Amino acid sequence: MTTTTTAPVHTSSSLRVVVAADAESAAGMAAERISALIRSRPTAVLGVATGSTPSPVYRALQTLRRTEGLDLSQASAFALDEYVGIDPRRPQSYRSVIDGEVTRSLGLDPLRVAIPDGSAPDLVEAAHAYEESIRSAGGVDLQILGIGHNGHIGFNEPGSAHDSLTRAVDLTPETRRANARFFDGGIDDVPTQALTQGIGTILRAREIVLLAFGSGKAEAVARALEGSIDRSSPASALRRHQAVTILLDKAAASMVG
Ligand code: GLP
Repeated sequence: MTTTTTAPVHTSSSLRVVVAADAESAAGMAAERISALIRSRPTAVLGVATGSTPSPVYRALQTLRRTEGLDLSQASAFALDEYVGIDPRRPQSYRSVIDGEVTRSLGLDPLRVAIPDGSAPDLVEAAHAYEESIRSAGGVDLQILGIGHNGHIGFNEPGSAHDSLTRAVDLTPETRRANARFFDGGIDDVPTQALTQGIGTILRAREIVLLAFGSGKAEAVARALEGSIDRSSPASALRRHQAVTILLDKAAASMVG
């Protein structure tokens, strides 16, 4: 893989920030990291995210599958979140997105791919069951993350406790507006709630790779890396973790430092 990267702009023992030449290079680095993990441990547990940001990572993994025989058939995956009340068969449901971009395209066993059940009659019970299933799988080895314009990770909006666990949350109008592009009917069609892994759940992953692309993410990235570590910036919690890599394109890195 050819990547033109500048030196990491921030390095501590725990958090590494890499500014890649472009989104594709950054996605390629994330895919290489996943590939190395799977080659060393084919039964690894992946944490998978939705949104437009991780899509090039999944495409790069598809390429590695085709060209280098990367085999994800024994891996497991846990999705971060799902809309509450959405028909899981709708293309906008995160179940459909994960089924298409991850499970089928990458050849995972559907029985080893879990997505929070946003249609459960009892969301508290569904959230608890999701935590339990992550725990009984041995925890997530590598979590892929995007970031919202307001700094959210998963669907943990500003105000979320950094030790929060999987739970139903209200989505801010800002997040619903940002995600309206995926829905035919615009913002009114975007569900108002989601079932999301908590920030505390995410922080239990042994390794985390967050990607952010475009100038729209620059402020959220800078706050996460340089602002105070508090509830107003969900992604700032990552600075408490011992193994995080932040992969940025130049635009997303433009307000850092
Ligand atoms: C949604 C998802 C997040 C994702 C965010 C950013 O809100 N729940 O996991 O990080 O969107 O999406 P995008 O990558 O499309 O900008």
